[in-house]
Amino acid sequence: MEASSFIFSKKNTIPSKGQFTWSSPSNIALVKYWGKKENQIPENPSISFTLDACKTKTTLSFTKKENDDSFSFDVIFEGKKNQDFKPKIETFFKRIEAYLPFLKDYHFTIETENTFPHSSGIASSASGMSALALCLMSIEKEMNPEITPEYFNQKASFLARLGSGSACRSIEGDLIVWGKHPDIEGSSNLYAVKYPYQVHDNFKKYHDTILLVDKGEKQVSSTVGHNLMHNHPFAQQRFTQAEENMTKLIAVLKTGDLKTFIEIIESEALTLHAMMMTSMPYFILMKPNTLEIINAIWAFRKKTGLHISFTLDAGANVHVLYPEKEAADCIEFIKNELVAYCQNGHYICDRIGFGAKKL
Ligand code: PMV
Repeated sequence: MEASSFIFSKKNTIPSKGQFTWSSPSNIALVKYWGKKENQIPENPSISFTLDACKTKTTLSFTKKENDDSFSFDVIFEGKKNQDFKPKIETFFKRIEAYLPFLKDYHFTIETENTFPHSSGIASSASGMSALALCLMSIEKEMNPEITPEYFNQKASFLARLGSGSACRSIEGDLIVWGKHPDIEGSSNLYAVKYPYQVHDNFKKYHDTILLVDKGEKQVSSTVGHNLMHNHPFAQQRFTQAEENMTKLIAVLKTGDLKTFIEIIESEALTLHAMMMTSMPYFILMKPNTLEIINAIWAFRKKTGLHISFTLDAGANVHVLYPEKEAADCIEFIKNELVAYCQNGHYICDRIGFGAKKL
């Protein structure tokens, strides 16, 4: 599918007003996306678990307006009018206008809220941008009812990608691939797809307990971080490594090999942060307690033989991953030994989820 397949020609009969609500989850990458080309095209493929509990709920109300020469919208975040999100949404609208030519015909009210606390250090861009993209697709579907569910999801993912790269992996679940990879049929740089091959029971109902180590605003945004991969001394090797890790994961996911799974995902997490530390300018997003948690997980794993592991996104928080059959012991360990490293003892128990829902 080419980008041009997602261009929607405006119909004469556009509704005068309406409202749609979607709830869309966050996701956590196992093989990380870090580095992009123009138009939000990833430098390497990535794969993620869709989450279940961490979500954004967005209601998009639209009313036809007189002039159609500019975008017009208000954002209401957690019940209050919010100006902070406006520039990002304006940029998003500019990027997607060619694919949704009705955008300037309406005034939009975007009411949005997250299930996770506002300042938790959990990025809401994946769940937020995917929820908004889905609401916009519901408008397109009203104008164009014959579009298939497959096209709906693909285009929602395509649009979400233009808002925030990783958001394209939040439309469906439970394992999602974004970025062209020779061994993954149907994979694309333009939108994410469901992982198409066999997945062992070990990876069903996988848990992700998110330890909130630092709830503050990140010092370096992911946009800046991605850009620092241009001219990065290790960039090409990193992109090749990610491709190879995707290939290795195909076998691991099929056989249920938890040991190799852990090796791949922990190496991916540390490589992501190694790229940050070796950028110019360099930066560190981990905090001392991030490392305390990693060391405690390694010690516990060595002592018990349980398959508990970690991954990180672009921040200090730690995602603790473990299979369903070992959940009871892992949760006890987390409560007894890891929660002490969280800011105000805060953590979120999440698990693999199955994608966005229309409410
Ligand atoms: O979607 P962005 O531009 O915020 O980038 C997200 C990058 C990571 O979360 C660090 C990795 C990933 O693949 O989600």
